[in-house]
Amino acid sequence: MSESLVFAPSAAAIARTRTTAAQYEEMYARSLSDPDGFWKEQSQRIDWIKPPTRIKNTSYTYPDISIKWFEDGVLNISANCVDRHLATRADETAIIWEGDIPGTDDKVTYRQLHERLGRFANVLKANGVKKGDRVTIYMPMIIDTAVAMLACARIGAVHSVIFGGFSPDSIAGRINDCDSKIVLTADEGRRGGKTIPLKKNVDEALLKTPGVERVIVVKNTGNAVAMQAGRDVWYADEAAKVSADCAPEPMNAEDPLFILYTSGSTGKPKGVLHTTGGYIVWASLTHERVFDYQPGEIYWCTADVGWVTGHSYIVYGPLANGATTVMFEGIPSYPDAGRCWQVVEKHKVNIFYTAPTAIRALMGAGADIPDQYPMPSLRLLGSVGEPINPEAWLWYHKHVGKERCEIVDTWWQTETGGILISALPGAIAAKPGSATKPFFGIKPIVLSPEGKLQEQTKAEGVLCIADSWPGQMRTVYGDHARFVSTYFETYKGYYFTGDGCRRDEDGYYWITGRVDDVLNVSGHRIGTAEVESALVAHPKVAEAAVVGYPHDIKGQGIYCYVTLMAGEKGDDALKTELRNWVRKEIGAIASPDLMQFAPGLPKTRSGKIMRRILRKIAENDYGALGDTTTLADPGVVTDLIENRQNR
Ligand code: WTA
Repeated sequence: MSESLVFAPSAAAIARTRTTAAQYEEMYARSLSDPDGFWKEQSQRIDWIKPPTRIKNTSYTYPDISIKWFEDGVLNISANCVDRHLATRADETAIIWEGDIPGTDDKVTYRQLHERLGRFANVLKANGVKKGDRVTIYMPMIIDTAVAMLACARIGAVHSVIFGGFSPDSIAGRINDCDSKIVLTADEGRRGGKTIPLKKNVDEALLKTPGVERVIVVKNTGNAVAMQAGRDVWYADEAAKVSADCAPEPMNAEDPLFILYTSGSTGKPKGVLHTTGGYIVWASLTHERVFDYQPGEIYWCTADVGWVTGHSYIVYGPLANGATTVMFEGIPSYPDAGRCWQVVEKHKVNIFYTAPTAIRALMGAGADIPDQYPMPSLRLLGSVGEPINPEAWLWYHKHVGKERCEIVDTWWQTETGGILISALPGAIAAKPGSATKPFFGIKPIVLSPEGKLQEQTKAEGVLCIADSWPGQMRTVYGDHARFVSTYFETYKGYYFTGDGCRRDEDGYYWITGRVDDVLNVSGHRIGTAEVESALVAHPKVAEAAVVGYPHDIKGQGIYCYVTLMAGEKGDDALKTELRNWVRKEIGAIASPDLMQFAPGLPKTRSGKIMRRILRKIAENDYGALGDTTTLADPGVVTDLIENRQNR
């Protein structure tokens, strides 16, 4: 039924859009037939110190994957996000900050942002940071965090932002992987009425990071924290010593901008590396077109800057476009499920961009809550992070958008730098549950799992992208071979997304979720291998297998099968212990939802765990287990089914 629902663009959206349906078709066709010409033109949206003459230089030929865009161009991103707006909108608001505690807020104009980032950049320099150095940022959702990111970009340092929900062990792993000598943090963060001990977590992490020489601490809550002499300094003290004047460092288009760690199907999280020129062209162009952003509008993306959505669509894309971007410290459910709608009305938000998991949670709290808020400023709604089920889409459309706002369901990944598949308001009709059509320069292709190209329009299989686009990641930091093998080895000649999809008869894309061992829990990517290795690191655990199962709010929940060491007793106390253990090893976002103690796991005769069977049992769909005769010990399955947790 859902596939037959179509929401044509409203007359209002058509009247104001930057991209009409005809323009979309024409620009899309040209972006594929003449990428050099198309992207040369689009690159002019950026202020270059030296404009590029070479536009696209990319190869998907396995194993020599090489991606360069605008490679002889020179620019500085912070100048594009801030300085260049000073002539026209210095006194307009760049960032509106809404605090976790209702009633607390703040804002900075572009002029103030310019001053703050210059000063922060000089603090970094004074503390020894040089072009190319990696700077770890473990900070809360406050304006200083955006300032810190821009300050790194100002001097050519490469930032690695770590989400505040990660544990000390996860922080240490990321710091060591990119060999970062400096960490920027705050005393504490605030979220949902709780304080997050950021500095304390950093202190614990730093017991395992021999390379860190300096920690710069921003005072946020003002509560006392330990400061280690010779290593830790307060930002305010450092800022008092320097000027706010810092010339932007000229950066080559292919110089690194940031590293962002993300989970894959194997091993530890990988450092996705994005560079300068292509990234900012992509982030700013997609922000402008997908949200049809027009000057003066208030734009709010509810993500955290610790994720790629926060990088591209709170900080870089909106600021490059001179937008007013809202940064929200809190969570949608605090102090109650009306918070987002209060904030929309308070700041007169025009564009609201959030994740399906938040929509589903708010839906659960009842439609009468958003129904109390007319939210007349709202014009456009966005969704990102996971497939949005049509029920949630329709609820969002009716109770938040009042059947007046278009919805853009934006599909993309940390690796892609920005949106690749999405409707454009006023140009592309929406179908609830479909990310709709590809953005300029993106040629999605559908392959059978065996790799056969599905040429007919209506198709189902794995989603690959045929050619490079400017915002694409360039490598895995420090491990190019892993970049090549993860994304280019299975299906030669294409970028493999790790997602499955359907393409309908209208050429619309419906993302069906990950086809690899990556879970999407509340819109956060978690590798099953990471959770497994955390579990087996516990002395009482012999073996573990982790799979996802459908979860009403989170999209997917984490289901762990655990085999204990001989003599250990699997009881509720041990479940709690193991759950806390995983939270300590990785962070609260990886907390197991269901745990089953199993005397044995289903394995093939060669010793490979049959995850297909474990998934089916976790989904409570064990009637369709398929062939189990190849198992070394088919008997274990009976026990697994009898003791399943998801009934
Ligand atoms: C999923 C977040 C369906 C997908 C920007 C992808 C989506 C992974 C959508 C990337 C969407 C993201 N519809 N699925 N609109 N957006 N995904 O790296 O599985 O945190 O591969 O980037 O989220 O997650 P990541």
